[in-house]
Amino acid sequence: MTSKELQKARDYEGKYMDFIPQQERPAFHVTGGIGWINDPNGFSCYQGEYHLFYQYHPYDTNWGPMHWGHVKTKDFIRWERLPISLAPDMDYDKYGCFSGSAVETPDGRHLLMYTGVQKILQEDGNYQEFQTQCIAIGDGVTYEKVSQNPVLTGADVPEGNSAKDFRDPKLWYDSEEKCYYSVVGNRTADGSGAVLLYRSEDGINWQFVTTLDASQNQYGKMWECPDFFPLDGEHVLFVSPQEMKQMGYEFHIGNGTVCLMGDYNKESHSFDRKCVHTIDYGLDFYAPQTTNTPDGRRIMIGWMQNWATCRSQPENARWFGEMVLPRELSIRDGRLYQVPVRELENYHKDCISYQNICVSKETQLDGIRGRILDMSVTVRPGEGRGYEKFKLNLAKGDDNVTTVIYDPHTGLVTFDRTDCGFNYDIINERSFLVKAGQELKIRVVMDRYSIELFFNDGAAAATAMIYTPQEHDAISFEAEGSALIDVEKYDLAL
Ligand code: FRU
Repeated sequence: MTSKELQKARDYEGKYMDFIPQQERPAFHVTGGIGWINDPNGFSCYQGEYHLFYQYHPYDTNWGPMHWGHVKTKDFIRWERLPISLAPDMDYDKYGCFSGSAVETPDGRHLLMYTGVQKILQEDGNYQEFQTQCIAIGDGVTYEKVSQNPVLTGADVPEGNSAKDFRDPKLWYDSEEKCYYSVVGNRTADGSGAVLLYRSEDGINWQFVTTLDASQNQYGKMWECPDFFPLDGEHVLFVSPQEMKQMGYEFHIGNGTVCLMGDYNKESHSFDRKCVHTIDYGLDFYAPQTTNTPDGRRIMIGWMQNWATCRSQPENARWFGEMVLPRELSIRDGRLYQVPVRELENYHKDCISYQNICVSKETQLDGIRGRILDMSVTVRPGEGRGYEKFKLNLAKGDDNVTTVIYDPHTGLVTFDRTDCGFNYDIINERSFLVKAGQELKIRVVMDRYSIELFFNDGAAAATAMIYTPQEHDAISFEAEGSALIDVEKYDLAL
């Protein structure tokens, strides 16, 4: 049954979404129909298509009572919009249908698990927020919340843990054991983050299994949006911690994204963490979620924003928030590698390539420009001692430019959008380390408002939004000293 809250949101979206011209949206990145979006939710393969839901407040370009918007795709590039699937319309989720996930059940239904937020009046007259896990089941278009909701409450967390911060279930179906598992973000008694593991035979009745891992105040406070999956012989736990502390060039303060990699013993359900690193080193990335494809790939999507920067928006914005281009994940030498989904190559057109171009002072190359493109640049040492610094200028025109500067001695990369034309005093620069040396590969995927960078075949990724006028589309290369570059650029036929 469609509640009045859900119908109202659908009507609102239907009425206003088409007033936003296509050329004012990204060409191949997911946005909401209208208004605000944050975390990707329910990223899953259902009946041969990939479904994506997202945290959605259609009525405003700022966060508000959370709904679940819904799109689907066959190839991660072209997306079809579907009716809004969840609205905050029950007592147990009246203050929001927060993040969650989805899975196809063995009998072909689409099962969503999400966080319901409610506020309950306390003896002292204050309202206290509680978060519980809830289920909705559907057919890929419409979804019904089950009568057993909520299926997990504060009574199901270990003693001393928070019943308030208990959210963002990521579930999967274990076909060997014929049961469901779900990881949920939580806080331990010390106030810092933890991931709890639950198990269910039927997707409705859930039992606590174990605390899979905990921050112990090392990697931030509340651990939001966990994901847990096997990859290339290892197990990977993703979390998006709040209140991270700066740690060298690896972690910045505030909301971060952390990949914890280790061994998982399926019998004892113990996870032994071996290494930890950032997932995306850019300015705008949060709450990643993965799914797997029938051909065995693990694909990640994420919110192309961060809480630190999302409150400054372009004037007259009618949509705000988009998702990153889905990325294929792998592990090499104990690191998470990520590259754009290979489906992007089906849209390549008009290749322009150059080999062995000698760069020192600022150089532009005929045909190498644009704002919707996929470009690979390989940098090598030029004559003599090679180069001291290499600089890539993107979306350049008038006073606008976004730069990537690489220091081959230290491996330090600085990604700087200070002059991208977005006149807010927010964080505009990030620095991080890649492998030092005179050889560097950078892949640049650009859409109208974003730049996604992939270094050295995906060993590091960095993402940032830019709001530069579209006509500022020049690209140039500079080196202190002498560099040799190869460039291959494709426009995208979308
Ligand atoms: C992460 C998050 C989640 C929560 C959702 C609410 O960005 O804070 O923990 O479920 O956003 O919109």
